[in-house]
Amino acid sequence: MQELVYLNGWIGSFEDSFISVNDRGYNFGDGIYEVVRVYNGVPFAVVDHLERLENSAAAIEMTIPWSRVQLAMFTEDLLVQSGIKEAIIYIQISRGTAHRNHLYDPQINPNLLITVRQVPEIARDMYTDGVKIITQPEFRWQLCHIKSTSLLSSVLAKNRAAQAEAAEAVFVMEDGTVTECSASNIFIYSNKVLLTHPANNRILSGITRKYVLQAAHSLGINTREETFTSTDLLAADEVFFTNSVTEVVPVIKVDDHIIGSGAPGPVANQIHTGFITLRNAGV
Ligand SMILES: Cc1ncc(COP(=O)(O)O)c(C=O)c1O
Repeated sequence: MQELVYLNGWIGSFEDSFISVNDRGYNFGDGIYEVVRVYNGVPFAVVDHLERLENSAAAIEMTIPWSRVQLAMFTEDLLVQSGIKEAIIYIQISRGTAHRNHLYDPQINPNLLITVRQVPEIARDMYTDGVKIITQPEFRWQLCHIKSTSLLSSVLAKNRAAQAEAAEAVFVMEDGTVTECSASNIFIYSNKVLLTHPANNRILSGITRKYVLQAAHSLGINTREETFTSTDLLAADEVFFTNSVTEVVPVIKVDDHIIGSGAPGPVANQIHTGFITLRNAGV
């Protein structure tokens, strides 16, 4: 087993891979990306990820010169070569290499990076004990639906969370609306309804979010894609966040406020099990 890098057709190790200092991803964060979880050698929801990548490209006026089939093939080849069964695939497309200039030349060739790594160790007590998250003012931009490599605000928020010994930071707008976390979507369960922010420009519409909503439907849980406030968040019976790496993570504390009974709730657990059933069935 070997963690591998694909860079514009070249394949090798992380140590041996290099990109120009003129890469626009490096200079401007001018790029888009995807993170795909691989279970037992099979990438989960790869079509959804490639579709979102195309949507992100369109939103930043970038033409991807590779078809969805080609991207899937490059990825699958790299995964097979790596021999890693429980993997994280990272796909990044930057606008390309050119002398630093805010203005971009639409003719330059995008740089395609794909990496395959082992899934990081995920502490099981996150699921059994739940985690703390912190609130942060929503200081991001208005194009959060783009999975952009410009991630400075998420980097700051996630590090503030870590400094507070919390697993995530959740963004709250000036009017109190809760959007999402630095690298996850957030759900609350209140009055027998599961709520999450609508998929608009204020959030990244997570692939896990999509399948969690699907799992909730099949479990007969009422769901609404509707905004809620930080007051609703604190008063919720249950809170959890979702992303491709850690799936469904129960939240038991927001800042210094205990959620529900202070232990992971049954709904988060049921939904996580439902999600696992869905992904084992293969998408
Ligand atoms: C801002 C943000 N929201 C939500 C998510 C969850 O998306 P997914 O479930 O597709 O991993 C991510 C994942 O990185 C993210 O960065």
